[in-house]
Amino acid sequence: MSAPLNGNLVFNVAGKEYVGLDLYRSRGGYSALQRVLQQSPEASIEELKQSGLRGRGGAAFPTAKKIEMVRDNAETDRYVICNADEGEPGTFKDRYIMTHLTFQLLEGITISAYLAGASKGILYVRHEYWEPQNVLRAAIQEATEAGLLGDNILGSGFSLHLEIFSGAGSYLCGEETALLSSIEGRKGRPRLKPPYPTQQGLWDKPTLINNVETLSNIPMILKNGVEWYRSLGTSDSHGTKLISLSGDIQKRGLVEVPFGITFREIIETYGGGAKPGRSIKAVNIGGASGVLVPPEMLDTPLEYGACAKAGITIGSGAVFVLDDTRSILDNVHNRTRFFLHESCGKCTPCREGLRQTHAIIHKLMDGSATPQDVDRLERYTDAMQHASFCGLGTAAGNSLSSSLHYYRDEYLDHCAKENESSDREEIA
Ligand SMILES: Cc1cc2nc3c(=O)[nH]c(=O)nc-3n(C[C@H](O)[C@H](O)[C@H](O)COP(=O)(O)O)c2cc1C
Ligand code: SF4
Repeated sequence: MSAPLNGNLVFNVAGKEYVGLDLYRSRGGYSALQRVLQQSPEASIEELKQSGLRGRGGAAFPTAKKIEMVRDNAETDRYVICNADEGEPGTFKDRYIMTHLTFQLLEGITISAYLAGASKGILYVRHEYWEPQNVLRAAIQEATEAGLLGDNILGSGFSLHLEIFSGAGSYLCGEETALLSSIEGRKGRPRLKPPYPTQQGLWDKPTLINNVETLSNIPMILKNGVEWYRSLGTSDSHGTKLISLSGDIQKRGLVEVPFGITFREIIETYGGGAKPGRSIKAVNIGGASGVLVPPEMLDTPLEYGACAKAGITIGSGAVFVLDDTRSILDNVHNRTRFFLHESCGKCTPCREGLRQTHAIIHKLMDGSATPQDVDRLERYTDAMQHASFCGLGTAAGNSLSSSLHYYRDEYLDHCAKENESSDREEIA
């Protein structure tokens, strides 16, 4: 790929304008909703199935399957929730959609609610996103006045009442079950799954929870057709992905790329590569909860299958580049401190694992750690990965584990020169 793609993509983020309702409709906006309301929900769900759309919030679950699970539930009082918490450090894609492609998102939420048979919807927006909240509030009002939200949408008899719920600044509340608890006025801690939100979600009712980017794909697929969508990606992963590109590169920002492009192409073609005179030392893919990989891994294509095989988590699509001036330990220290701060403390592997790993990284940074400490770090990391109650602890373990795998020498270089054994506990 020699030049950035422009034009007929899902988001076309190169255009920085706010796409208001009139402009959106002039470009075919809301024609998908109109069509969906005129055919059976099953037919539209089948189109989404064929499109291969998978969740863009991190777990990559097939979207149509989730909609179907809610729709098939015998309980008819159902909810749709748009997860706009966007707490992953280094991720800024959902903010762009909310503030520029607001009606594309609203149309996506409306279609998914119709298909799931839900008449109540909530946009869960992180507290710090007060500007997107204001834009969304005004757009909801405008869509309601235009008959595109509220009662009897476009005269179809289908109604959707959508409200905004402002989060309270907790990263963990982006996890779908913690998010539900937080809306219900309880502590924002994760719940045991199953039951999944599709079975027993908000107020124990079947609930469809999807990410902003996922939902915003829906109107474009149903407007432009499954073939168009599939032609944008590869046989393994269809469509495009928004990438929040940042760090030590020449051009930072939000880009939309087709699946199948390699990480190297993303960094070189869209980000302009490393700064003059510098080289890439490591790349953090998938945000703080993602992995840290060396430049040799950058020829891996952005594809669910290839990434899983290579141990790369696409996650929310953050790509953060570290050049040769950066310390791996500094990066790992920052991320561990973040997770320690955000851990809810409910389960021991995450609560204690993060305290201990953070303490060992401190010792490494002040030069008092030993190689035995690095071994211990590996054991704690393994426990966090395999025994944590929710994705926060697992992801914290994954991110540490990848840095230990690829940069163990740098950890060992930071150990005290005299390898006295350290049997004392890291935290008294
Ligand atoms: C600690 C943690 C934080 C999360 N934060 C977010 C978030 O900010 N936004 C999001 O869409 N999903 C987040 N998720 C994933 C959600 O739990 C859920 O999988 C997602 O909203 C489902 O939507 P999707 O199928 O469209 O991806 C988080 C998961 C974990 C474990
Ligand atoms: S893994 Fe961490 S955030 Fe998740 S429940 Fe356990 S302590 Fe809480």
